[in-house]
Amino acid sequence: MDKFIIEGNGPLNGEIAASGAKNAALPILCAALLSDEPLTVTNVPRLWDIGTASRLLAQMGVAVEQTEAHTIVLDAKPITTCVAPYELVRTMRASILVLGPLVARRGEAHVSLPGGCAIGARPVDLHLMGLEAMGAEITLDGGFIHAQCKKLKGAHIVFDTVTVTGTENLMMAATLAEGETILENAAREPEVVDTARCLRAMGARISGDGTTTIRIQGVEKLHAATHRVLPDRIETGTYLLAAAVTRGRVRVTHTDPSLLDAVLVKLQQAGAKLKTGTDFIEVDMQNRRATSVNIHTMPHPGFPTDMQAQMMAMNCVAEGVATIRETIFENRFMHAQELMRLGADIRIEGNLAIVTGRERLQAAPIMATDLRASASLVLAALAADGETLIDRIYHMDRGYEDIEGKLSALGARIKRVRQLL
Ligand code: EPZ
Repeated sequence: MDKFIIEGNGPLNGEIAASGAKNAALPILCAALLSDEPLTVTNVPRLWDIGTASRLLAQMGVAVEQTEAHTIVLDAKPITTCVAPYELVRTMRASILVLGPLVARRGEAHVSLPGGCAIGARPVDLHLMGLEAMGAEITLDGGFIHAQCKKLKGAHIVFDTVTVTGTENLMMAATLAEGETILENAAREPEVVDTARCLRAMGARISGDGTTTIRIQGVEKLHAATHRVLPDRIETGTYLLAAAVTRGRVRVTHTDPSLLDAVLVKLQQAGAKLKTGTDFIEVDMQNRRATSVNIHTMPHPGFPTDMQAQMMAMNCVAEGVATIRETIFENRFMHAQELMRLGADIRIEGNLAIVTGRERLQAAPIMATDLRASASLVLAALAADGETLIDRIYHMDRGYEDIEGKLSALGARIKRVRQLL
């Protein structure tokens, strides 16, 4: 397994470009299943998870072609099977996003249950509840979800909890259902809105995306379209925090400040000097140490859970004491134990972390446990004295394009150690 060696060496300084959003590209690639005409997706990030999604669709018979570095053309005319196998689903839970489109387009789907993951149980009961409400017959057998329905019917669906991929799955299914579907207590994440934009480009009739109530009028079929994936707000926030933890200055271009208001408010509270434009954000710490900030994760537009681990890394080296409350997932503090190995002062009480900032951290060998935890460990290593070895960084390759290239462009001393055996 590849490792990173990172040497903490003072303030980062420079400019990098954000990639397309992983969590928009994944549902949008699956949306190709809804039509027998080609879908061209641009600004697709080059990530492990995008490769997995492409393999998942290709083994269903979808023609998946990477025509340029960040462009994928998908043609789902020749779907040959409606099965999403365990060996692919277990490596990427977002594979569940083929369920809604397959039932809508082909009347059936056989998707391996994603199973748990490091950060929590992450059930998919709300995805299934919604499809049943639309007339699908769902059975669970042999670790698979079997869904059948000749023609989905519009339904009024109320989500018990806000679910991002649940909203996306049912929104996609509803585009080809008979009649109107209303999704209440829907997720408002920008990636949901981007998926809706793509579906509209394909001819879907959707309104209310970005609010808690989404209305979809089913249509007979969807047609060819081209869609550019929106910038990755979590990648953007992660690199802005690299400035905050190293007291440096980082500008992220090809992004959109309106996607991460909650994060920018917290960065300002931490003492960052912010500059923003239509497609860039700059954080300048002016060589000053960050001030600790309290975090309470919530569904969008609240503070994103996917930035929680990164903010914890900042609080570990900030001035003061702060609390972090994780309300979305039940086990999303695994980075804390690894941060403590670097000398961080963190106390965990249930879903609350109390972090007392230290002037500096000390390098030590640590291990990534999940995607955003790995980002947190990289940030902390940038602010630690000495060389930190981070193992299992395949987690980070899932969600961050060209990490070494982007961090090196900011002046970080980072190298990847490939482990062949
Ligand atoms: C999406 O996961 C993201 N992944 C996650 O990003 C992100 O952390 C999460 O939304 C929350 O913002 C993608 O978009 C591919 P949820 P998702 O359904 O949709 C419970 C990353 O780092 N729930 O919104 O799986 C669930 O247990 C990843 O890029 C049910 O109970 O998350 C959780 O507590 C990690 N039943 C809460 O809802 C369901 O049927 C929110 O989960 C579905 C969800």
